[in-house]
Amino acid sequence: MAPSASTDRYAVMGNPIAHSKSPLIHSMFAQQTGQHMQYDALLVDKDGFEQAVAEFRQSGGLGLNVTVPFKQQAWSLAQERSARAELAGAVNTLDFSAGQCFGDNTDGVGLVRDLMQNHQLDLAGRNILVLGAGGAVRGVLAPLLQQQPNNIIIANRTANKATELAELFASYGNIEGMGLDAIPTKPFDLIINGTAASLQGDVPAVPTNCINDSTCAYDMMYAAQATAFMAWAQKQGAQKYLDGLGMLVEQAAESFYLWRKLRPETAAVIASLREQMHA
Ligand code: ATR
Repeated sequence: MAPSASTDRYAVMGNPIAHSKSPLIHSMFAQQTGQHMQYDALLVDKDGFEQAVAEFRQSGGLGLNVTVPFKQQAWSLAQERSARAELAGAVNTLDFSAGQCFGDNTDGVGLVRDLMQNHQLDLAGRNILVLGAGGAVRGVLAPLLQQQPNNIIIANRTANKATELAELFASYGNIEGMGLDAIPTKPFDLIINGTAASLQGDVPAVPTNCINDSTCAYDMMYAAQATAFMAWAQKQGAQKYLDGLGMLVEQAAESFYLWRKLRPETAAVIASLREQMHA
């Protein structure tokens, strides 16, 4: 659809940004729902985020997605924030439509929808192991706890980051933090990899008896091939090993809903992206 002066404009800001799939995802959502909108990927200088947002707003932009390394800055910039963004300490969606800068975080709901709706996993009463204690993990803990799992263990290479994060969320459910070497040696129902290890082709040092054939292994990263974590899980006997492509599309759908008040159909978009990744 050719942009015109009246086209509603959105974008994703990050650094790097060239490989972002968000413009493609949002253009599929727009086409599917008949929305006349433009969505660009904008590379922003590491120290130029605030100015880039101001310019985008002044030029009539209605909303932004924000990715690495600007999610914490976006949180600070927002004049008002959703409860889930407040807890996440990070903002991945900005909405300017009400005349002020509203910040939301759709990552956690994206993960939960992918697990529960796309993969039919029940989280209530389950024992969940979450690997990593950085921003990516912090963003998903509250929505996971809302599903009332029996227990969430956060395990991290640097143990104290995991214990601090668990303390921060202790009032929202049964959650513990520890080092990777302290993980109880019993099978978990679900293991979520929220570390950056897959980027380097690494797998966090997790005891192999955490996993059995009924464990679901979920990597928040995605790639055309199985990630190192997924390959490891498969080798340990897991029958279900999933990547984070569905989470990416679901978080985008929630941003789209915030901006356009319409819920796009995600299954066809996930399938189309998967197909293109394998082409
Ligand atoms: P993000 O915002 O993407 O979460 P981050 O805040 O830099 O990024 O956090 C990266 C996470 O991946 C951390 O939990 C990190 O562990 P440390 O806190 O010990 O640094 C984890 N991580 C990165 N590479 C790892 C590896 N090779 N093995 C295990 N954990 C790794």
